[in-house]
Parts: sequence; structure tokens; C-alpha cells
Amino acid sequence: MTSALPLLTAVDLHKTYTTGDAQVSALAGVSLTIDPGDFIALMGPSGCGKSTLLHLCGAMDRPTRGSVHLGDRDLGTLDDGTLTKLRRESIGFVFQFFNLLPMLTVRENIALPLLLGGTNSTSALRDATSLAQRVGLDRRLDHRPSQLSGGEMQRAAIARALVHRPILLVADEPTGNLDSANGARTLELLAELHRETQVSILLATHADEVAARADRIVRMKDGQIEREERVSARVTAAAVADAASVADAASAAEAMLGGRSRS
Ligand SMILES: Nc1ncnc2c1ncn2[C@@H]1O[C@H](COP(=O)(O)OP(=O)(O)O)[C@@H](O)[C@H]1O
Ligand SMILES: [Mg+2]
Repeated sequence: MTSALPLLTAVDLHKTYTTGDAQVSALAGVSLTIDPGDFIALMGPSGCGKSTLLHLCGAMDRPTRGSVHLGDRDLGTLDDGTLTKLRRESIGFVFQFFNLLPMLTVRENIALPLLLGGTNSTSALRDATSLAQRVGLDRRLDHRPSQLSGGEMQRAAIARALVHRPILLVADEPTGNLDSANGARTLELLAELHRETQVSILLATHADEVAARADRIVRMKDGQIEREERVSARVTAAAVADAASVADAASAAEAMLGGRSRS
């Protein structure tokens, strides 16, 4: 491990949501470090706080207590405008339900982060076109999201999340709304883009075959981190290459990790 500054350092995060009279503790003391190039899978039962942690690490929300540093910047010291700018420039998001804008074409959806960041439209659309080609959507550039399959929508969303070259990609159950073939293809694409760009990925998932692609698996329960497993990148890649299918890769990774249970 190098002694370089972590990409992200979250310390003792607490998040309590208040709705009416009720208070829900979603995070109760979570600390996490993301190094440059990490691919982290966040696992745990529904309601354990995965999405909340993603939102805090992605600068979409603020903790009730605790701190998040992106590099050497303490997000808690930034005003809302500065935080929004930092999020737009540095973070990419992929959601379970794609969140594409229905009135825009695929090319325009992908270009959106650049356009919001002030890039001129010719250059933004050119970059969007080349990334669309990279994710296999070259023949869907002028389609609307409603004309795409689920897998195509998620590939467009992944391109949108990466077009502005973020340092961190936050993905919340990105294969959760896809059939297994499209889920596997989406996952393969994410793994390829991770290798090509070295963008750090923090990805919440329920699926063992998704987590098997990560090099760190962080398991959460009741708003806390229960344990963490590290998979060396080399071993993960070898397991994937040797396995006949993603499911086999998951089994191979499970065996190496010492019999993780399947959900
Ligand atoms: N905006 C919100 N308002 C109130 N409670 C919330 C909100 N978001 C999440 N929660 C609650 O916080 C807990 C953690 O939720 P979440 O982070 O979405 O978990 P996960 O993504 O692991 O399913 C759950 O009990 C959930 O109901
Ligand atoms: Mg969630």
C-alpha cells in the first residue's frame, strides 16, 4: 500500500432521519477509507444503511455527526453551493432505476454532467458520443430512454456517470432492476471501465456475483460496518478469467474468501 492520501475518509458517521415525531438512526458510527482505484462492494440487508452511506460519501447529503474528507477537503466545512460544485465535478452516480431524463436523447443524457459543469455543447456532445460508443450505444444516440431496454438504459447511465471523469463512482444497486443477463453485462462493463479509467467505485449490492468483482467487500448491519473482506485484484481477476460464467466466478471468489454464505 502506498502512503498517498486516501481518496475519501469517512470518520464516525452518524445519520438520523426525523420524520414527524419519529427518529430513525440509519448510520451509527461508520468509518470507511477509500483509496484511489479501489472497487468496494457494500453489502448488507435492506435498511442497513447502504444508500445513506453512499449519499454521504457522494456529497449528496450531510451526516448528523462525523466527517467526510474528499482528499484533504472536509466536506462539512463547505457551503451548499461549493458542495454541489464539488459533487458535479468529482463524483458520478449510478442508480437502480437509471434516473435518465425522459425528454432528452441518450447523447444529451450522457452529456448532461458536462453541460451542467459549463462545458460548451459541441464539446460535451462530442465526448458523450464517444463514451456512448464505448458502452455499446452508438446506434441509440438519438433515442429517448423510453425506447431503450433496461440494460441499455443502465449503460447510458454509466456513461453519464463517467463522462466528466469523476474521481469516485457511486453506484446504488446498479443491477438490482435488471434481468440476470443484462445485470452480468452491466457488471462486466463497470469492471472494464474500472480497469480502464482507475476510477474508484463504491457500489451497494445484494448480489454476491456483483460483489465478487470488487477488491474490497464491506458488510453492513444495523447502520454499522460488521466486517470487511479484502480480495486481491490479481486473485479476483484470475477467478473471473478461469470461471465459465459470472456465477462460477462468484462461487470461486466465495471459496477463496472462506465460504461466505449466499443470500
Ligand atoms: N429520507 C429518509 N427519511 C427517513 N428515513 C429514512 C430515509 N432514508 C432512509 N431512511 C431509513 O434509514 C434506514 C437505512 O436506509 P437505507 O440507507 O436506505 O438502507 P439500505 O440502502 O441499506 O436499504 C432505513 O430504516 C430507512 O427506512
Ligand atoms: Mg438502498
